[in-house]
Amino acid sequence: MTVTIVGSQLGDEGKGRVVDLYGDAADVVVRYQGGDNAGHTVVHDGETYKLSLVPSGAVRGKVGVLGNGCVVNPETLFDELDVLRERGLDPDVRVAERAHVILPYHRVLDGIEEDEKEDLAAGTTKRGIGPTYEDKVGRRGVRVGDLLDPEALRERLEYVVPQKKALAEDVFGIETDEAFDVDHLFETCREYGERLADENMTVDAGTYLQRRVDEGDAVMLEGAQGTSLDIDHGVYPYVTSSNPTAGGASVGSGLGPGVIGGGEIVGIVKAYLSRVGTGPLPTELGGVEGQTPDYDPADADDEEEELATYIRDEGGEYGTVTGRPRRVGWLDVPMLRHAARASSFTGLAVNHVDVLAGLDEVKVGHSYEFDGEEILTPPPTTEKWGRCEATFETFDGWPDVDWTEVADEGYEAIPENARAYLEYLADELDVPIYCVGVGPGREQTVVLEDPFE
Ligand code: IMP
Repeated sequence: MTVTIVGSQLGDEGKGRVVDLYGDAADVVVRYQGGDNAGHTVVHDGETYKLSLVPSGAVRGKVGVLGNGCVVNPETLFDELDVLRERGLDPDVRVAERAHVILPYHRVLDGIEEDEKEDLAAGTTKRGIGPTYEDKVGRRGVRVGDLLDPEALRERLEYVVPQKKALAEDVFGIETDEAFDVDHLFETCREYGERLADENMTVDAGTYLQRRVDEGDAVMLEGAQGTSLDIDHGVYPYVTSSNPTAGGASVGSGLGPGVIGGGEIVGIVKAYLSRVGTGPLPTELGGVEGQTPDYDPADADDEEEELATYIRDEGGEYGTVTGRPRRVGWLDVPMLRHAARASSFTGLAVNHVDVLAGLDEVKVGHSYEFDGEEILTPPPTTEKWGRCEATFETFDGWPDVDWTEVADEGYEAIPENARAYLEYLADELDVPIYCVGVGPGREQTVVLEDPFE
């Protein structure tokens, strides 16, 4: 059977904890979209591992698969594998031959385009994700299988690289280097291909995964990013270039929709919102200069700003690399209704409930007011979403308690007002709660259901 893990908001919902929690029962852990734009930290046997591409299960002795829906930077893949091996692990990672390859020019172009776009920039991770998916859809990409086939590889590179070079030089006016040189790229790709072949890493992902499912193995599909960053269902154009929603798990792994839909699909929810980058956020508290649209700190509401800082500090909502504050807001229920529908959630994992402890009251954006009407889900265009005003419901706050003890004792030990909040959410989305995160540690989780059981 399969369990699919999907972010229901804007990424960073704490998917890693849930993959970790339920992943013990999995035999295979699959990524189905995205690439090395997804940072996750795995703590195993007291050791901390930082990964951006290798599925986290590979640290725990599971087979990790990068599905055909992923975009793979072989450089990152091999670096991560080398580090894991140096630290005494023996990761077993397979890569779909149909997955597309991020080449050095994709990274260069991602950086240039972001600078050119100004207000339309999504604030990308500059890993070349968007340009690689563009080439996939434009039918001029290089796939993992091509790395093992010198003739096909040269043909593809000879077609595409001059176009990329012209784009960089003639349209964007930059000087190009070996990242745009066919011979250099060919040699680099051949080396990648040889290593993939030597280590027997490539697979026909769908066939392989279906066999594992048929043999009765437990397969976990691990989404990266989140629903509002989905290229189809997110806040376009401030999105990533793939489908984190559950449909992407089928297309991006090669397992049919009946298999994915026949399993469990767990939506990961953070008990409040956080956002890196621009775009509408109707439940936002305060603002962050340069990211919150039309934000002027001089007009800011002091009480809201204070609340935002409190949540930001308690939740550690600062960029890991830049230290920049992230935008934060109350839970946005219209966003979650949209996510639950788009992915057919069968269960919810609600994280960071402890972060809101100690507040007198906790609000949720229950609906939006849009052009004088109440709406329960986000409108389809980002401009319309930007005109929505959240209508809030208010819950009494809950105290800060010993959350490790709560996790030991179970759901009934969660403070009553926090349970009211959780039950409201389950009712609104019509999806049961499977687990509640009440602290950063793996053991600080209240487990109500294990989807693999
Ligand atoms: P890209 O995926 O690098 O093209 O970035 C597109 C958008 O997705 C940007 O707003 C990124 O900040 C956001 N994004 C990409 N990966 C993540 C993630 O793992 N967590 C949160 N946001 C992400």
